[in-house]
Amino acid sequence: MRYLVTGAAGFIGSHLAEALLAAGHEVLGVDSFTDYYDPAVKERNASGLDVSRLDLARDELDFTGWDGVFHLAGQPGVRSFGDLFPLYVERNVLAGQRVFETAAEAGVRVVFASSSSVYGEAEQYPTPEETPPRPLSPYGITKLACEHLARASARSFGLDAVVLRYFNAYGPRQRPDMAFPRIVDALVEGRPFTLYGDGEQSRSFTYVGDVVAASILAMERAGAGATYNVGGGQEATMNETIELLESISGRRLDVLREEAVAGDQRRTKADTTRIRDDLGWEPSTSLEQGLKAQWEWASVESPP
Ligand SMILES: NC(=O)c1ccc[n+]([C@@H]2O[C@H](COP(=O)([O-])OP(=O)(O)OC[C@H]3O[C@@H](n4cnc5c(N)ncnc54)[C@H](O)[C@@H]3O)[C@@H](O)[C@H]2O)c1
Repeated sequence: MRYLVTGAAGFIGSHLAEALLAAGHEVLGVDSFTDYYDPAVKERNASGLDVSRLDLARDELDFTGWDGVFHLAGQPGVRSFGDLFPLYVERNVLAGQRVFETAAEAGVRVVFASSSSVYGEAEQYPTPEETPPRPLSPYGITKLACEHLARASARSFGLDAVVLRYFNAYGPRQRPDMAFPRIVDALVEGRPFTLYGDGEQSRSFTYVGDVVAASILAMERAGAGATYNVGGGQEATMNETIELLESISGRRLDVLREEAVAGDQRRTKADTTRIRDDLGWEPSTSLEQGLKAQWEWASVESPP
């Protein structure tokens, strides 16, 4: 098949593009190499991939002739109040609307990377997809807006869209602004690590290989209009993950504590019954296995 992967120079998109190529598909990446984090990191992620430099919010788009679009490009990160907000509107909402309408015109399926951030402080844990979304961060609000735009394009223009709500993806090449790479780098370099909040905030951490597998299954098998949680099976607190990384690395982490970040959720825990029943997907990488892979990648393959 011929697939477009937007955000292919990013963390998850680069893994997804590689997996699709390895499965024998034709893949074209699309990315504008934003400077949200060092674009040189994105250049490394994209090496070995065919990535077209396009800004989805501004440049002309045409998806004719493709079999599907994995729409992962966007502006991530919950620190999204204030001056940064226009970037979230442009790179998530505006880019999303253009991708959805272009895909509808071409009759091409879109698998959209939404987020557990749409749930905010959820009414229920584990959180099933039908839980009313109440995002706490502007980031989560823009992701929810994209979900609504996808549904509106489905109703008005026949868009075939599948929404995946990823829960904290991690693994080799994880975005440097996220906690695990900052912990791993601090351990490698013997520097202190700044922990925001009391460390008891917990997440359904999801290994990137499992996120990729769910995304491909969704493209191949999901019904049009479906929404799925993509979440790891093991909920862990930040304090627990720090202990685990200390034990994997055999080193002690010097932790500096700071106030929690505005918009950060206290807890995420995915209910993945729906995607297991419909698509047969289950997370297959334990947190310990995934963190070992991340530690090895950061400390051996990519020493800072
Ligand atoms: N990493 C996670 O834990 C997580 C969790 C939930 C949802 N998501 C979503 O999954 C997607 C991928 O996340 P990631 O962690 O790999 O992020 P990432 O920042 O590494 O990748 C996103 C890529 O999109 C590109 N991009 C941004 N705006 C663009 C535009 N207008 N046109 C073209 N390219 C553009 C960026 O340059 C970047 O390379 C994002 O949409 C994110 O919101 C990620």
